[in-house]
Amino acid sequence: MVRLILDSSTGGYPVLIGSNLHRELRNVIARLDPTGAAIVTDTNARPWALKVAKAIKRAGLKTGLLAIPAGERSKSMLRLQEVLAFLERQQIDRGGCVIAVGGGTVGDLAGLAAAMWQRGVRLVAVPTTLLAMVDSSIGGKTGVNGRRSKNAIGTFWQPSAVIADLEALETLPAPAYRDAFAEVVKYAVAMDRGLFDLLQRNAPRLVERDRSMLERVVFRCVAAKALVVAKDERDRGPRAILNYGHTAGHALEAAARFRITHGRAVAFGMRVAARIAVAQGICGKRVVEAQDELLEAFGLPNRPPHADPKRVLAAISLDKKARRGKVAWVLPRRIGHAEIGRSVPGPLVRRVITRSLA
Ligand SMILES: NC(=O)c1ccc[n+]([C@@H]2O[C@H](COP(=O)([O-])OP(=O)(O)OC[C@H]3O[C@@H](n4cnc5c(N)ncnc54)[C@H](O)[C@@H]3O)[C@@H](O)[C@H]2O)c1
Repeated sequence: MVRLILDSSTGGYPVLIGSNLHRELRNVIARLDPTGAAIVTDTNARPWALKVAKAIKRAGLKTGLLAIPAGERSKSMLRLQEVLAFLERQQIDRGGCVIAVGGGTVGDLAGLAAAMWQRGVRLVAVPTTLLAMVDSSIGGKTGVNGRRSKNAIGTFWQPSAVIADLEALETLPAPAYRDAFAEVVKYAVAMDRGLFDLLQRNAPRLVERDRSMLERVVFRCVAAKALVVAKDERDRGPRAILNYGHTAGHALEAAARFRITHGRAVAFGMRVAARIAVAQGICGKRVVEAQDELLEAFGLPNRPPHADPKRVLAAISLDKKARRGKVAWVLPRRIGHAEIGRSVPGPLVRRVITRSLA
């Protein structure tokens, strides 16, 4: 097991990464000493939530469990109300805590409920997807979707502890597991050369879900994210580096009307960003090749997704308008280092996107 203590404006909190962490979970909860605990999960992560409930009961704490329907649609105001009503039924008072057991969907929803209930109760995150372990459980962003806009309603609310038990990844469907590697490769290319080397050397073991290797990889991703979040908790500057691959990625998702997974879209977005960087003379061709090879090794191949380049470009310019004329391109300079806030000439973006989708 590895343990990190992350800094936040509301105090430090532990992040535990390992296997069979039931005893550690019990100890963490005992240390928080809540007056009550309410577990929020979804229908697929429920078996893991039941294990968490068992561990907590052993700590002598009464707890209830709510399982929402699995899927992004649950990040809604309706479900938020349902979670808040559950916290009320459970009589969670200001000394209580919410335990989110699931992927980013559950984490974002339960996190927002925790931030709102009684003007904020403690949140313990037990991520059960690889994406939630390396990304969404860290950094304190919570939220639900508006009718037409993703993550439009939310807060920053830091957890009191994060417990990433790699055992949960055993039941994670292959597409969700594979997709998370887009974010893992993102950290490696934009921030951590050592992680990139580790991934290159051990891709087959990771594809096989080797736990000791996963422990090292999740640790490095959490450390990378924690580093930028500590500098910019409220996402006003340096945190933008985490958007590497997301400018073209989000645009592709919108253009394909979300028929492409987020991971595949981010992989596409990183390919586009690296090619733009080469064309601008910021980095060498080797970055493009090495990144392509690594994405391929994790099952994120360079097959152009079906999407109209014009739609993708339109989505990028919508983003530009929303940001008052500035698209926040994050471009790699070399493996392990990217720069933020570069503006890129429109014709170059058009050329690279059109080629990447051909
Ligand atoms: N807060 C943040 O900083 C942040 C960062 C990145 C993404 N997100 C959000 O996270 C969400 C995506 O997260 P995700 O990829 O974890 O998706 P998810 O939570 O929807 O989980 C993916 C699928 O796996 C299932 N599942 C979860 N754990 C499982 C397990 N152990 N075994 C079997 N099935 C399991 C879920 O029920 C779901 O069907 C998006 O809503 C995104 O906006 C938030």
